[in-house]
Amino acid sequence: MSREESAERLVGAAPDSEDTAVEAALRPRSLGEFIGQERVREQLDLVLRAARARGGTADHVLLSGAPGLGKTTLAMIVAAEMGAPIRITSGPAVQHAGDLASILSSLQEGEVLFLDEIHRMARPAEEMLYMAMEDYRVDVIVGKGPGATAIPLELPHFTLVGATTRAGLLPPPLRDRFGFTGHMEYYGSAELERVIHRSAALLDVSVDTAGAAEIAGRSRGTPRIANRLLRRVRDYAQVRADGTITAAVAARALEVYEVDERGLDRLDRAVLGALLKLFGGGPVGLSTLAVAVGEERETVEEVAEPFLVREGLLARTPRGRVATPAAWHHLGLRPPEGPSAQGGLFDT
Ligand SMILES: Nc1ncnc2c1ncn2[C@@H]1O[C@H](COP(=O)(O)OP(=O)(O)OP(=O)(O)O)[C@@H](O)[C@H]1O
Ligand SMILES: [Mg+2]
Repeated sequence: MSREESAERLVGAAPDSEDTAVEAALRPRSLGEFIGQERVREQLDLVLRAARARGGTADHVLLSGAPGLGKTTLAMIVAAEMGAPIRITSGPAVQHAGDLASILSSLQEGEVLFLDEIHRMARPAEEMLYMAMEDYRVDVIVGKGPGATAIPLELPHFTLVGATTRAGLLPPPLRDRFGFTGHMEYYGSAELERVIHRSAALLDVSVDTAGAAEIAGRSRGTPRIANRLLRRVRDYAQVRADGTITAAVAARALEVYEVDERGLDRLDRAVLGALLKLFGGGPVGLSTLAVAVGEERETVEEVAEPFLVREGLLARTPRGRVATPAAWHHLGLRPPEGPSAQGGLFDT
């Protein structure tokens, strides 16, 4: 489990226990209801329509992208659109070829097999999967040593939907066996606003246009985070306002939860603040920066930095961490004058 997963942060992309409980109710059930990801949606729509027209099963689908962008949601939509049942398992649950053989052989014709975190599957199972995906057949090894025999087993036609946050970790032979790969991107604010309006309606929460925009801007491009912030803002609106989420209510609520206008939380701001105020914007080594904020090196590197880098607030350079001009601006500070102050990296 990574740090990101273990820490329950309001702006963390991994699901917390409450997310798991409410997400099922908020999941779009059809491609038409699924917001954004235009390209993946159109491509997948073609794959599924064509398969339906042929009366066959859809080709295997790989979905890659950061946590909380909708991979599990899309996998369930694939099954719903094909009118097929879905079986759900994950890479870590498939540690032996035998585990996989028993799942595969119990599938129904046309069933969707959703294999989450497919990059974490054990090697022997992976090799069995190659043959299953291509020929709908597996060899079950019976016995050990010289007396072992391979018994071929015919499988029903199925659609494998694999999901991964780390497409780069998949061995090429596995990647190549998917007929379609969808890369999920971070969502724009207009799309997140639609996600928020949709979820608000399902949760029976009243939110106006500016209120939704305020939450969307702090959601880090991630629907899971948008839904989570919406629930916290709803609480605030019920207790401290008249229940309606306006821009002012959303802004005040998220101030209480220490999520700023760009979606940075206390930790992100501490890292950025130390880099600017104590080290003049860097370059400074990761360990020094971690000590300065009183966190583990790994926490700074794996939990705080990826989003700061993505937002163009921090750069990782061979000489250490460096703040960008946008970082000074975001914390309301003036960058020091002169090229040497920034280590010459941002000369104009
Ligand atoms: N395009 C979308 N439209 C509306 N809601 C969405 C969309 N994508 C995701 N969501 C919402 O975000 C939540 C998280 O999505 P989902 O569980 O599918 O993410 P994931 O990519 O599988 O994440 P993980 O990598 O952690 O498994 C879901 O509850 C769903 O309601
Ligand atoms: Mg998922």
